[in-house]
Amino acid sequence: MRVLVTGGAGFIGANFVQQTVRERPEVRVTVLDALTYAGDRTSLDPVADRVELVVGSITDAPLVDRLVGESDLVVHFAAESHNDNSLNDPSPFVQTNLVGTFTLLEAVRRHGVRFHHISTDEVYGDLPLDSPERFTPETPYNPSSPYSSTKAGSDLMVRAWVRSFDVRATISNCSNNYGPYQHIEKFIPRQITNLIDGVRPRLYGAGLNVRDWIHVEDHNAAVWSIIEKGTIGETYLIGADGETSNLEVVRTLLGIFGRDADDFDHVTDRAGHDLRYAIDASRLRTELGWSPSYTDFREGLAATVDWYREHEAWWRGAKAATEAKYAATGQ
Ligand code: NAD
Ligand code: TYD
Repeated sequence: MRVLVTGGAGFIGANFVQQTVRERPEVRVTVLDALTYAGDRTSLDPVADRVELVVGSITDAPLVDRLVGESDLVVHFAAESHNDNSLNDPSPFVQTNLVGTFTLLEAVRRHGVRFHHISTDEVYGDLPLDSPERFTPETPYNPSSPYSSTKAGSDLMVRAWVRSFDVRATISNCSNNYGPYQHIEKFIPRQITNLIDGVRPRLYGAGLNVRDWIHVEDHNAAVWSIIEKGTIGETYLIGADGETSNLEVVRTLLGIFGRDADDFDHVTDRAGHDLRYAIDASRLRTELGWSPSYTDFREGLAATVDWYREHEAWWRGAKAATEAKYAATGQ
């Protein structure tokens, strides 16, 4: 089986490629990745001899057409993925998330290739704090940021290409991921690398916003379940019942580092900051038999802290520039 993985040098994509190579010897992986600031070819080092990396953009129609034509399956992770960046400059989000997904859809349509589209729960907007409500596949789309609106648009295109052109596609909308190889602009690795440097963690606003954390390996196992057992045209929500406030995350990290529970700073809040995300993944569990392996969040976080401690060479080069960008917005 020949699989084309877009964005395979990014956080979730690189973990997906490594897991796939480890667990599925019958799969031949080609990665298409533009190696933006978020992509890192060294994230594929452990499997470099088993993976072909093509450096290029998903908006490059002739390149995409050739690579899709040589594949049996496309798993589409490539995206501009950071909300804060989308507030500073939305234009690459439109190009990659909308035009790039369109370019892939046209190629899979021409070649009749199976497509799995990776998306986010942020397309549904946010939920009130302290409510039992969770997102389901029936929740109306209501995105808040340039990032989530471009992901929502890409999901809707996938649905339309299934209905209008019989493209064989599935969609998954997952909650917030954590684990190795996540860019240090994101919340958890930013605070871990701050703590390694002896810097106090930074909480946006009061820190009461809630995210539904899932380990990246559980996300990727769910993606394979959908590819193998899912129904064409369907949307699957992926989540592991990991609702935690940002304040609780920071306090857990402080505990792992042996620091005082109040050793953090509040900084400027994000514009339009979504309050709470929570996923009802019962369909994935009951219909496809998936369940998460990482059920103890503190343990998963401690393992992630160990990974960043042991892989300083992987992240150190990006630290100063990432923090300079945040400093410019008071964060
Ligand atoms: P990431 O930013 O770490 O990686 C994105 C990758 O895409 C990078 O390797 C980058 O070089 C590549 N890329 C960007 N533009 C490209 C282009 N035009 N052509 C080819 N490659 C390009 O992102 P991530 O966190 O790994 O997210 C992967 C996917 O999962 C995204 O679609 C995102 O919306 C989705 N998702 C992420 C999360 C999360 O918590 N991180 C949760 C749910 C869904
Ligand atoms: P992030 O990792 O950017 O993911 P998303 O915006 O997709 O949820 O942020 C997760 C949460 O952490 C979000 O509520 C914003 C917050 N946050 C902070 O409090 N401090 C930070 O330094 C960052 C980067 C995020």
